[in-house]
Amino acid sequence: MTLKKIFSGVQPTGNLHLGNYIGAIKNFVELQNENNECIFCVVDLHAITVKQDPKDLKKNIRETAATFIACGIDPSKSIIFNQSSVPAHSETSWLLSCIARIGWLSRMTQFKEKAGKDKEKASVGLYVYPILMAADILLYDATHVPVGEDQKQHLELARDISKKFNNDFNAPNFFKIPEPLIHKSFARVMSLKDGEKKMSKSETSDLSRINLTDDAETIINKIKKAKTDIDPFPNDVNNLNTRPEIKNLIGIYSSLTDMKIDLLLNKFNGKNFSFFKEKLSEVVVEKISPISNEIKRLGKDPGYIDQVLSEGSKKANELSSKKVRDLKEKFGF
Ligand code: TYM
Repeated sequence: MTLKKIFSGVQPTGNLHLGNYIGAIKNFVELQNENNECIFCVVDLHAITVKQDPKDLKKNIRETAATFIACGIDPSKSIIFNQSSVPAHSETSWLLSCIARIGWLSRMTQFKEKAGKDKEKASVGLYVYPILMAADILLYDATHVPVGEDQKQHLELARDISKKFNNDFNAPNFFKIPEPLIHKSFARVMSLKDGEKKMSKSETSDLSRINLTDDAETIINKIKKAKTDIDPFPNDVNNLNTRPEIKNLIGIYSSLTDMKIDLLLNKFNGKNFSFFKEKLSEVVVEKISPISNEIKRLGKDPGYIDQVLSEGSKKANELSSKKVRDLKEKFGF
């Protein structure tokens, strides 16, 4: 098996949740444990595309790094660093913004969702955000990028930028064409309150998500209150497409236990939802409680987290500075 070069990032905007875990961080850990070369970034420059309180940002950068470690990312095997401590990211982002086309950016659905109705008032940073993301990935020659489904379009843009640069500068292999690694069966965890909406940090109701810092009692309570419907437990995978809330809860169970959906439907056949929710709570608590406890423990040791970030930044600076030098040379600087 050829080893992959992995890069991925998570925004330090607080409230990391089960969607971040299932869609992204769980896969980071698996890729690391397969001995791939891994770089995981706390993307603090992305976070400021919407206004952040500086004190909260500092706390959230540490908490995101602590969450990586609590989930199983080992700083002696993988590089963990924060984006703003490596200047090559901002510099490359500018250079690539001269390659990306306005038409490509204006198709980005996440910008449309995040900017809402009044697009004129959104920051320019929010609009060009996918270019910074492309810079993150291309700087390290990443071959594979593990992300949740919502980042697929941004990765396609990174691929387009890479291809256009290589073509425009007649430099066929200068940038790699990164492959997305997105789970086929369950890569979008939905809100516990509305199966049509993504589980998200910014949703006002805390009952809509399971935070990675929730304790067992909170998790059990949130799952108890999760929306279901009045029909019996499904016995056919095809039924799930018209029952988004049920599909989501089953997806969470299947993803955390690695149990195939058809086996799961068989296991709970004839049971009621309160029984299923009880079992789901056990599964989620078993996975999340140790993470939540470890985040709390690491929270008491900011010196250790700062040291991990500083060592990671040193390595990331070494890796990226040569690439940015070569890139500038291509432009004629
Ligand atoms: P962010 O911080 O919004 O989310 C971090 C990761 O969590 C995944 N995710 C989900 N997966 C499944 N279901 C959900 N409900 C859910 N919510 C979030 C996201 O897909 C993501 O993988 N732009 C990125 C961060 C980024 C990045 C990068 C990623 C910056 N540079 C380079 C990869 C490579 C973002 O805002 O993710």
